[in-house]
This record gives sequence, structure tokens and C-alpha cells, in this order.
Amino acid sequence: MPVQVADNVFWVGAIDWNRRDFHGYTYTTPRGTTYNAYLILDDEVALVDTVAPGFEEEMLERISEVVDPGRIRYLIANHGEIDHSGAIPEVLEHAPQAEVLCSRKGLESLGKYFDLPGLRSVATGDMLTLGNKTLRFIEAPMLHWPDSMFTYVEPDRLLLPNDAFGQHLATSQRFADEVNSGQLWDEAARYYANILTPFSRMVLRKLDEVARMQIEIATIAPSHGVIWRQDPGRIVEAYRRWASGQARERVLIVYETMWGSTEQLAEALAEGVMSEGVEVLVRGLPMADRTDVLGELLEAKGLLLGSSTHNQGMLLNIAAFVEDLKGLRFTGKIGAAFGSHGWAGGAVPDLEEALREAGFDVMTADLAVRWAPSAEELAKAREFGAHFAREVRRSVMEAVPPHHGFEA
Ligand code: FEO
Repeated sequence: MPVQVADNVFWVGAIDWNRRDFHGYTYTTPRGTTYNAYLILDDEVALVDTVAPGFEEEMLERISEVVDPGRIRYLIANHGEIDHSGAIPEVLEHAPQAEVLCSRKGLESLGKYFDLPGLRSVATGDMLTLGNKTLRFIEAPMLHWPDSMFTYVEPDRLLLPNDAFGQHLATSQRFADEVNSGQLWDEAARYYANILTPFSRMVLRKLDEVARMQIEIATIAPSHGVIWRQDPGRIVEAYRRWASGQARERVLIVYETMWGSTEQLAEALAEGVMSEGVEVLVRGLPMADRTDVLGELLEAKGLLLGSSTHNQGMLLNIAAFVEDLKGLRFTGKIGAAFGSHGWAGGAVPDLEEALREAGFDVMTADLAVRWAPSAEELAKAREFGAHFAREVRRSVMEAVPPHHGFEA
């Protein structure tokens, strides 16, 4: 069933209940996802974005319930990634006269993915009148690809920002106010942490730019998950908070252990953090899901990273997590390393160096323990955990709250 989003605007996307990975298993999606496409009816008919390969028929059936797909005059491709552009060829089979519009950078990605003779670029400020409705385009490079673009629909005050403000959440419901809010915000945070964190400066700039445009936004309809129709300013403010690195009094302890010694240190550190009344989350790898852990890190001020030494370095699952940290480049966080070793060490200095490379403010814990931690070493870990928690609290209190903007 198509779902009405605004006057003569319909969701005609697809629900992928079984999707469990994105970007080649760098991102797990335990709740599936949706690919949202939006059909706009006016004197001319426009379709904004399509769906992933395999879901073409589902989308075309939904379109057909509203209008003959052959009437589509404009196909707006806000982003070239295949989960949104995958059904462009099928749409063009039904509507060969349709013009495909994308950002200037989209000419490169879409032009290479597909043979699209009718591909044309638009830029920020360009408008397209469909009759009573006008589409206004806003380039949004690096949110999250260079070719990303927003489409704003007047007079419906409807923003179609493609990947931005999305969540990987398969549900029969189309609107944020209809789903479990704990799950929704968990998925929105996981999504920001794993996809948008490296581009936080651009996110802030884009929020400011849209605020300066003084366009009213009643509804934000992203290309994944549910649509923000009640108080869409909440997700905008969350993006501003996440993009500015604002965090709370939370310490995340992430470790991988070989024979349990590093785990004992992790638990002693956690006791120390708790003794200061600061929230702590202890996550052993690979039992904990890396995508989840990165989502939990988004609002954590402190990270304690531990590994046993193996082959003079860190264990493999921690090494993968460290690669994520270097790539995602969280800002404004404090970190420290700990671990155990047998005949020779190596993991702890490597972890400290990796934290520095990832942009953390690194504290020295002096917790590289040989064999198994002694009672004194466990006491030292508890003391350091308490000290780290106090630093986290001080740092959170000193942080300047972000200013507001982009009133939705
Ligand atoms: Fe949902 Fe960047 O594609």
C-alpha cells in the first residue's frame, strides 16, 4: 500500500525485513531496513529516489496504485548509492521520457552506474515547478556521499533528505510517532555513529545553511526507516548534538581477552567508574556487536580500550574496532588503554597510539599487566577507573552546549 505523507505525496518504497548488513558487513542491521521512495502528483509527476535491486516490482506496484508509472516526468535521484538508485532502469522502462535529475557530483556516480542519456544536474537553489508544487534542491555533499542532495517540496514544507536523518528499521509503520521510541532512537544513533560521524563538520555546516534559508519544515522524510512528522526538530537537534561531539557522563569499556586477564582488568576499571556514580558499559569483543558498540560510543565521553597481546600487538577483533575508530573520527572524547601480556607486551602502546590517531585525548593508565593481574594491580585498575570517571565528569561539565538552529 502506498502511504500518504503530504497532500498528493506518497511513500511508494519497499520494506526489507531480512536485511542484516550494510556496506559489506561493516554495519549490522538487526532490525532490517526500508528503502523510501516518494511519489509527487501534480500537473507533472515526480518520483524522488527509488529502491534497492530486488525491490523494483514492490515499488512499481505501489506507484501503480496511485498513478500510471508511465506518467512519471521527473525522477529525482538524491544520491547515487545503489540502495536508492537501483531501480532507476526499471522506472525508465515504464517512463522512457522521464528526465533524471541529480546533483552535479551525481553525474559521476549515476552516470557510471547506469546508461542514462536523460541525466541532468541541478544545484542548490534550483527549482522545478510541477504545477502547484515546486521542488527546491539543496546539495548536501558528504551527507554522506559527495553526490548527496536534499529535495524540499513546497508548499508541503516537506524535506526529503535521502540518507540524512534515517534509521535502519523495517516496520509496517511509516511514521516515527507510530513505533517504539527506544528502538527508534537506538537505530537513529547507530545510524549517525556508523555512517555520518566522519562528516560531522559538514553536518553542522549544512544544518546552519538550511537554518539560514529560513524554510519551514513540517515533515522530514528520509530514505531509510520512518518519517519524522511530529516535532521533526527533535532529530535535527539530535544531529546537532551528535555532530558537535556533545557527550554525557558515560564510560564505554571495550576489550578483547585471551585467557581472562584483560577481562579482569575491564571489570576492575568498571567498578572504579561505578564508584564515582558514572554510567559504564562493558563490552567484550567479539561477543558484543561492533555496530552497536559504536552507537553506544556516540554519546559516551570516555572510552577504555583493552586487549591482550598476541603476536606483539592487539587481538584481531579489537584491531577491527580500532580501524572503525580511525575511520569514524569521533570528536571530543577521552581515552585510555589497558591490557595483559605474557612473555612480551605490545598491545597497550599500540592501543594508545591508535586512540591518538583516532583523535582521542589520551590518558595514561599504566595498566599493562603481565600474566594475570595481582590484587595490587586490580586495585590500581579500580583507582584508575575512578580517576577516569572524574575526568569524564569534569570534561562533560566544561563542554559548551551547542547553539540551536534549523528550526523544523
Ligand atoms: Fe542509503 Fe548512502 O545509501
